[in-house]
Amino acid sequence: MKSMQIIDAKNHVGEVVQIGAWVANKRSSGKIAFLQLRDGTAYFQGVVVKNEVSEEVFQLAKNLTQETSVMITGEIREDTRSKFGYEIGVQEIEVVGESHEYPITPKEHGTDFLMDHRHLWLRSSKQHAIMTVRNELIRATYEFFNTNNFVKIDPPILTGSAPEGTTELFHTQYFDQEAFLSQSGQLYMEAAALAFGKVFSFGPTFRAEKSKTRRHLIEFWMIEPEMAFMHQEESLEIQEKYVAYLVQSILDNCDYALDVLERDKAQLARYTQVPYPRISYDDAVTLLKENGFEDIEWGDDFGAPHETFIANSFEQPVFILNYPKAIKPFYMKPHPTRDDVVICADMIAPEGYGEIIGGSERATDYEYLLEQIKLHGLDEEEYSWYLDLRKYGSVPHSGFGLGLERTVTWLTGIDHVRESIPFPRLLNRIYP
Ligand code: 4AD
Ligand code: MG
Repeated sequence: MKSMQIIDAKNHVGEVVQIGAWVANKRSSGKIAFLQLRDGTAYFQGVVVKNEVSEEVFQLAKNLTQETSVMITGEIREDTRSKFGYEIGVQEIEVVGESHEYPITPKEHGTDFLMDHRHLWLRSSKQHAIMTVRNELIRATYEFFNTNNFVKIDPPILTGSAPEGTTELFHTQYFDQEAFLSQSGQLYMEAAALAFGKVFSFGPTFRAEKSKTRRHLIEFWMIEPEMAFMHQEESLEIQEKYVAYLVQSILDNCDYALDVLERDKAQLARYTQVPYPRISYDDAVTLLKENGFEDIEWGDDFGAPHETFIANSFEQPVFILNYPKAIKPFYMKPHPTRDDVVICADMIAPEGYGEIIGGSERATDYEYLLEQIKLHGLDEEEYSWYLDLRKYGSVPHSGFGLGLERTVTWLTGIDHVRESIPFPRLLNRIYP
């Protein structure tokens, strides 16, 4: 007998097959039982008709409890009433693993309870849809960069340097030395760009941020491309093309998941149009002031309400260009004619999801960088390898970092970044 997965049902119509699945839900009357079956690839219905199976099988079906694992034997049929389009006419049921009093019932549960049961919550249809979109974004990321001649380079996770500032570091012991968990692979990617031209990384990063918001994780995954012989304007073009490509990929390949999530596809389709609008930091401050934000002054970083207001002024993701030097990391290229801003951009997602990309052109002047490293209170010795990159064949180069979880959160339209990663690490939560 052929065993198959639910997603392949369309290729087996009329055949008797075996499927390993879990019972997500069940309805039954005197003569018929409907099992909602899931196997991780999809959901479909198993139909058990009393006078088509043995009395034993029918009783077993009626008594199956939520999340019991079963091996089902039956015939695949078309089912025009369901969106999935196929069902299985059940002939035999073998219980593989019993399940009693499954904690997550179809009723409403509080978020804390669900987070405590994250290992089981992942089985629910909404979580499944979110992870399907996440997986597609990962697949499309490799596809986009591989087809554009980027080389995937893996920066280290245990590091001795702090590219994004020293306040948010996770400290760890590296034998008799102090080390940190990586908060960004960027500095290593700069070295890689000078070796391979165009590179990208995709890995976990760690930030001991004390902020408890809908956008912050302690451990998150970042995609960090870095390009040699490239100025900021060309980098912005790659960024908008990449994000548009991600959106198009989920429209093309995640139709069912987007339906489960009730995501507005017409709205997503707008985000596939490039170029994205650009606004300078200066103009963004003016825009905010003109619209009643009295708390913002030139030189301040934007908070969530500011980013949301700016995003709502546009129909697509928007780049905010050239922030004040004082609120950005040491490595950004200084503006050619102004002392107070650097050549950088953040991409702000629409609909209030905030910053999804941070990037910049990189400073190339040896003396300038050395001075910045000292100014930021960083140890010159630890950065001497980084400064070498400016000594031996330095070139203009630019790069950026896209946060995977912020992007998943935006594109799935969920409320909180904690549901965008299988096992979120949050302030006060490292379980399960
Ligand atoms: O803006 P960030 O800090 O930029 C960098 O780390 C640069 N070194 C990247 C580069 O140029 N190679 O972080 C980049 C992105 C943010 O725009 C956001 O999407 C995400 O990483 N991010 C977070 N996501 C979830 N939780 C957090 N605590 C995050 N901090 C940053
Ligand atoms: Mg940033």
